[in-house]
Parts: sequence; structure tokens; C-alpha cells
Amino acid sequence: MARAQVSKRLQDVNAFHVMSLMAEAKKLDSLGHSVIHMEMGEPDFSTPKPIIDAGIRALQSGITHYTPTLGLPALREAIADFYLKECQVSVDAEQIIITPGSATALQLVLNLMVSEGQSVAITDPAYPSTHNLVRLFGGHVLQIPVHEDSAWQLTTDILEEYWNESVNAVLLASPSNPTGTIIENSELQKISDFCVSKGTFLLVDEIYHGLVYSNAPRTAAGLNENTFVINSFSKFYGMTGWRVGWIVSPKPYLEDMNKLAQHTFLAAPTPGQYAALAAFEKDTQKILIERRDEFKARRDYLYDALENIGFKMRVKPQGAFYMYADSSAFSDNSFEFARKALQDKHVAFTPGIDFGVSGANQHVRFAYTTSIENLKIGIQRLSEYRDI
Ligand SMILES: Cc1ncc(COP(=O)(O)O)c(C=O)c1O
Repeated sequence: MARAQVSKRLQDVNAFHVMSLMAEAKKLDSLGHSVIHMEMGEPDFSTPKPIIDAGIRALQSGITHYTPTLGLPALREAIADFYLKECQVSVDAEQIIITPGSATALQLVLNLMVSEGQSVAITDPAYPSTHNLVRLFGGHVLQIPVHEDSAWQLTTDILEEYWNESVNAVLLASPSNPTGTIIENSELQKISDFCVSKGTFLLVDEIYHGLVYSNAPRTAAGLNENTFVINSFSKFYGMTGWRVGWIVSPKPYLEDMNKLAQHTFLAAPTPGQYAALAAFEKDTQKILIERRDEFKARRDYLYDALENIGFKMRVKPQGAFYMYADSSAFSDNSFEFARKALQDKHVAFTPGIDFGVSGANQHVRFAYTTSIENLKIGIQRLSEYRDI
């Protein structure tokens, strides 16, 4: 039978390159090889018990129906309260929109911001779904190369250099995937003001905000009337599979966001939203902070260890669980390097080409989402790489 035609929009959408490596790694695992997984973008810890218990309680009480489209009112209140207490920022609960993960939050917000022919300014490297979503919505991606000298983040000077009139939104991620670096508070304010002066949106992805190992950066929530923030219970709260994230939307756009949410997903998963209510409890926070300390210890070990075996490490990441390492001493083809390291040394990591084009073949991303013992084995194996 002839294959029916898929939409033209899909032609410019790319799959993650790392998926083929992950499939290969799983195959090696199933054959009994001990693969060291440093490609996984999710915590190795399972969801904290108080959150699981809250989800089970909700299900056992028969709470299985839709919540309101914009989310469970109690959860929206709890998140607004979190901004007030933890970030000293006042946002109304009505500005919090609960979504099925921040992946859906990204879809919703980009759908609001992008019209045919317009552009979204995004760092290169960046989390790849953003580029693909912009293209799906008919927009262009203005990929702006960033380097170690600005901690892989945008600055107003860099933005100005690349600016063109088609830009309708700027997207930042802090801490960033793949670099783990954060944007300085003063620069964040400047970029937000710059976007106001240009009459464009600013979208800040704060999904790794809970995982910062030095002083907590300020949130972009409430910075300006054009600034949207997305966040999620996936990473810091260890709830990747529950699919609960959120948007902090400026008030003038709430009606539009409501329309989009109704037609895009109707409501986020109900058990997940009830479970997430327990994320802010004292017992849960204690577990989460212990886990964050463990991630910090892993970061400190891995950063030095990678440098010692020949990767060039110029900016110590302050957050998330990623390191973007210069692998030019090993190869100038990041996919081939990752494929060979997996096949020959059973060490999995993500090639830079998944995150952009600038320097992408000279960089790879390591995720420290596995124990220090495993990281040590991975480093030992990679240190033999030159002998392959
Ligand atoms: C920067 C960034 N944003 C958004 C997401 C989407 O995460 P989720 O949908 O689980 O909240 C991810 C996932 O890895 C990410 O790294």
C-alpha cells in the first residue's frame, strides 16, 4: 500500500540522534554487558515516597476524573506559594497553568508566540525540542552560537549582534540543557528589558531551577509583562513519568493560554497533580535536598575526572545534571565518537550534534544521572579510549 503523505511541517523536524545510541545501549544491556549510562536526561532516583503515597491515595479515593483545564486549584495555589516563599516573587495562582510536563508547556507557549515567518532566538547549543517545535509552528529558529566566555548563555550584546526584525521571542534555559550553566541575575533582567524594548516575548525554561549547586538564581517569573516561565516536577522532584509541569503566564495572555490548553491537552494527568501536591511537604523537601547534594558530589567528581583524561572543561556547570565537554582531543565527529565509545567501551553519552551546529562535532554531553561508582568505571574505560 502506498504510504499516505505526512504533513509538510514534519519535514523539517529531526529525531534525537541519541535515540539510536540508546537503542544500541539497551541491546548491549540485554546481552549482559554492563553499559555505563551517561546519556540519560532523568534522575536515576525514583519519585520520593511521600509523592508516590499521595498519588496512590488519590487513585484509591477514586480521584480519576479530569481536573479543570488550567490545573488543580490547590496545586496552582501551592506553586504560587512556592514562588512567594522560595523565590520572594509574588505571582497569583491564576497565573500558574498546570501542563502534562514542561514539554507540553513549551508547545503551548511557542504556539502562542510563533506565527508563520517569525523567528525565535535560541542559543546554540540548546535543548533540541525547542527548535523542532518552532519549526512545527511555522516559525524560523535564529540559532545564536554561544560559547564558554558567556557560560554558554545569551547576553544582550550577543542578542543585539544577531537581532533581526523577524524575531518575536527569545528563549533561554537556566540552568541549561546541555551545558548546566545558569544566566546571571543582572543579565536576565537586562535581556527581559531588551525584549520589552523590542516588543517581543521572553520565554525562560527553568525546569532545572531546583538543581543548582551554588546560590539559587532568581526566577524570571514576574520580571516583565512579556516574560513566560516554564518549570516541571520532572527533574528536581523526580517525577519524569508522572507528566506534570507548569507555566507562569503574564496576566494579559491568560485567556489565550486557556484556549490553547483546552484544545491541546484538556487537563494534565489527575493522579500526577495530586501526587505533586506532596512535593512541597517538609519530608519530601528533605529527600530532594539530599539528592541534590548527591548530584553536586557527582558533578564535582566528573568535572575533574573528565579534565584529567583529556576533555577540555572550561566552565564548571552550576546546575542540572549535565556537562558539555570539549571532546576535540578525541575526535571531530561527536556522533562517531559516541558510537565508538558505546560499542568498544560500553560507555553511553550524547553527541553534541543533538543540541545544535556550532562546535557540535567537538562536544559531547555527559549526564551524571548514575552513581559515582558507575561514573568512575565510565571514566576508567574512557581513559583507555586512545588505545582503541
Ligand atoms: C531543557 C528542558 N526543557 C524541557 C524538558 C521537558 O521535560 P518534561 O516534559 O519532563 O518536564 C526537558 C527534558 O529533558 C529539558 O531538558
